[in-house]
Amino acid sequence: MDSFLIEGGVVLRGDVNISGSKNAVLPIMAATLLTAETCVIRRVPDLSDVRFMGKILESIGAEVQFEDHTLTIRAANVRGFGDYDLIRKMRGSICILGPLLARLREATVSLPGGCVIGTRPIDLHLKAIAALGAELRVAGGYVHAKAPRLDGALVFLGGRAGPTVLGTANLLMAATLADGVTVIESAACEPEIIDLADFLKAMGANIHGAGSPTITVTGVKELHGAEHEVIPDRIEAGTFAVAAAATGGSVTLRGARPDHLGAVLDKLQESGVRIERSAGALTVRGNGVLRPVDATTMPYSGFPTDMQAQLMALMCLAPGTSIITERIFESRFMHASELMRLGADIAIEGPSAIVKGGRPLSGAPVMASDLRASAALVVAGMAAGGTTQVNRVYHLDRGYEKMEEKLERLGARISRVPGE
Ligand code: EPZ
Repeated sequence: MDSFLIEGGVVLRGDVNISGSKNAVLPIMAATLLTAETCVIRRVPDLSDVRFMGKILESIGAEVQFEDHTLTIRAANVRGFGDYDLIRKMRGSICILGPLLARLREATVSLPGGCVIGTRPIDLHLKAIAALGAELRVAGGYVHAKAPRLDGALVFLGGRAGPTVLGTANLLMAATLADGVTVIESAACEPEIIDLADFLKAMGANIHGAGSPTITVTGVKELHGAEHEVIPDRIEAGTFAVAAAATGGSVTLRGARPDHLGAVLDKLQESGVRIERSAGALTVRGNGVLRPVDATTMPYSGFPTDMQAQLMALMCLAPGTSIITERIFESRFMHASELMRLGADIAIEGPSAIVKGGRPLSGAPVMASDLRASAALVVAGMAAGGTTQVNRVYHLDRGYEKMEEKLERLGARISRVPGE
């Protein structure tokens, strides 16, 4: 397993190109199952999760080509079940359930395993497809769904932690081919849902309200192939913005969408970071002086849970007390103990982390645990004195394209150490 070796104390400077969004492209890849015609998807990030989803689609009969950040997918002959070992290993694969059900009127997918950030239930996904008329059987770790017909319905998708992003995606995709009108209430409003809806509309779907809490879908008989360019990854952009702030540097995020980063940029500015917006880019200037801030993760457009770990790393550098509260997932503080190995002072009190920042961090070997926790450790390692080794960076490779190369081009002293 590969590691990153990081010499801290650098100042990041320069431009970085933001890749396409992982959390937009995974449901969009699943949406190609809704037609037998060819779909072309551009600005696809070269990530292990994307390649994994490609293998899952191939295991159910789709033809998938991926070169030069462009996916060409043709799901002419698909079957309703796939390689369970693959499907079980990636949570995002749950979003093939809706399109397979809509296309074939039956689907069998394995229940996604939990992961380090929480149990990751799918009760809302199942509620959604049952509302359209699917008969569900959960057995042996799999969900078997059958629907001789799918009828539009009114579905309230709010759960105990608010809307569900992939649950909204699943229902949105299934509803495009259902008979009649589906209204999704308490739908997720993330930009990735808008991007999925844009792709579905390019395929001929009839969708209104994507990006708002109420989405209306009028079913059509069939969908055709389409071309689409994926939105930029707002979490990658946010991560590089935090890295610029953490090292007191100045970084221009090429291709970033400031309108997708409102809550993140607001917190950075509250902490004293300067933000300059320009056409198709965003420049983040740290000035070495950071103020502590409080943040609570919320559904979009609130502060994103996927930026919680990165903000915690930054607040370790801000003299004073910051309180970071995680309201989306039940255990998303795995990075706290690893940050403490770098000398951070963090106390966990229920859903909140109390960060006493300002003490200099010093490098040490640390262990990545999930995708965004790993990013937080890389940020902290660049700001720490001495050497930090981040182990198990395969977690990072799931959601950041060539992170070490992008950081190196900004002046970071970081290298990938191949593991056994
Ligand atoms: C998506 O996961 C993202 N993943 C996650 O990003 C992101 O953290 C999450 O949305 C929240 O924004 C992808 O898009 C591939 P949810 P998703 O359903 O859709 C509960 C990353 O780092 N819930 O919106 O699986 C759930 O337990 C990843 O890129 C139910 O209770 O998340 C959580 O508490 C991590 N029942 C809350 O809702 C359900 O049926 C939000 O989860 C479904 C979810």
